[in-house]
Amino acid sequence: MKIINRAVLSPQYLPSNLPYREREIEIVSKYLERFDQGEQMPNIIIYGPTGSGKTSVIKYIIKHRSFKNIDVVYLNARLYNTSYKILSKVTEDEEKLGYPISYFIARLKNRSKNLVLVIDEADFVRDIDDLLYTLSRIDDGFNISIGMILITNSIQLKSKLDPRTLSSLNDIELFFKPYSAEQLRDILKTRVEMAIDGEYDIGAIAKIAALATAESGDARYALKLLSRALEICETENANKLTVDHVDRAVDMIEFDVVAEAIRAMPMNIQIVLYSIAKSLSGKQKDLFESTLQDMLSISELYNNYIKISESVFGRKAKSLKWFKHYLSELENLGFISLIAVKTKSREIVSYVRLGMNHKDILKYFEKYIGIK
Ligand SMILES: Nc1ncnc2c1ncn2[C@@H]1O[C@H](COP(=O)(O)OP(=O)(O)OP(=O)(O)O)[C@@H](O)[C@H]1O
Ligand SMILES: [Mg+2]
Repeated sequence: MKIINRAVLSPQYLPSNLPYREREIEIVSKYLERFDQGEQMPNIIIYGPTGSGKTSVIKYIIKHRSFKNIDVVYLNARLYNTSYKILSKVTEDEEKLGYPISYFIARLKNRSKNLVLVIDEADFVRDIDDLLYTLSRIDDGFNISIGMILITNSIQLKSKLDPRTLSSLNDIELFFKPYSAEQLRDILKTRVEMAIDGEYDIGAIAKIAALATAESGDARYALKLLSRALEICETENANKLTVDHVDRAVDMIEFDVVAEAIRAMPMNIQIVLYSIAKSLSGKQKDLFESTLQDMLSISELYNNYIKISESVFGRKAKSLKWFKHYLSELENLGFISLIAVKTKSREIVSYVRLGMNHKDILKYFEKYIGIK
């Protein structure tokens, strides 16, 4: 088996058709067409879990439908997260940063065409009330009209809005259902056949679909798994994609998540984490049923930490106070849990338990820091 088209496996790839989203494409396109012909457009809020095709549907419409009298502008609120950034981008005046917002509003009003503003991941807009308020006022006494499409996976979006914004919102809501296992299987089959030259077990595809269904029908996760499994299969010169490749892809993705989280930590915390993983590596048997024998008390761990910090990392150890502070950070990140235990002498002692497999943690240090 050989990968002949990597692009179709990338998260940015927009397929030339989107099965199971025909209805959603039609609904949104209809509103845009009517707006194009001079009718009013309601604001549209699109909800749906992650990987349910929301972004793809909008990009598909922008690519495949053409409009004469309106412009459709797409912005992602992770990048444009304030009404100021959004308005200056829409009016293509980003270099005028520092100008008052009224400058950009005036420019908007002077547009020759009506506008549809699509804001993806809209829950990232910090002052969404201001944005919606400003835009809803723009038509007053002017020729130009603006329609909004807000995309979000948070059903809380509206409950966060000010009652006054809500009452002037004039919106319709569209819900994207999570994909079912059968639907994901179909999507994956189309994609794998475009991506490879060679064979695949249908069981491997079914397994990916089942795993992604458990992740609330997330097509993005499904495609990521497929892509990883194919890479493993190709590297090993196997002639067929199998369930075994998928299982190993799952482990790899889990490790990636752990690695990313460790990489983002300050070095001092990484050292504490390493020392805990190392100290517990001989003890941890079962992640979910650990007993006191699988854990270590804070004072035992602190002693190990002092040794490891100096001998392995060549760094002077931090004080016990700092050590405890780092433990609570690690607990917040879900790497460990702290368990208070009453001893026979009625003392309360804190024990530390790992919240994930120590192997993934140690593997990170071996792979990226070169520490065994
Ligand atoms: N109906 C479909 N057919 C084929 N591929 C699809 C379909 N729906 C989604 N995908 C693929 O799944 C991936 C995720 O889709 P998309 O980015 O549109 O999800 P989303 O709903 O915007 O998720 P998020 O809320 O996380 O932004 C994309 O790579 C896309 O190509
Ligand atoms: Mg999206």
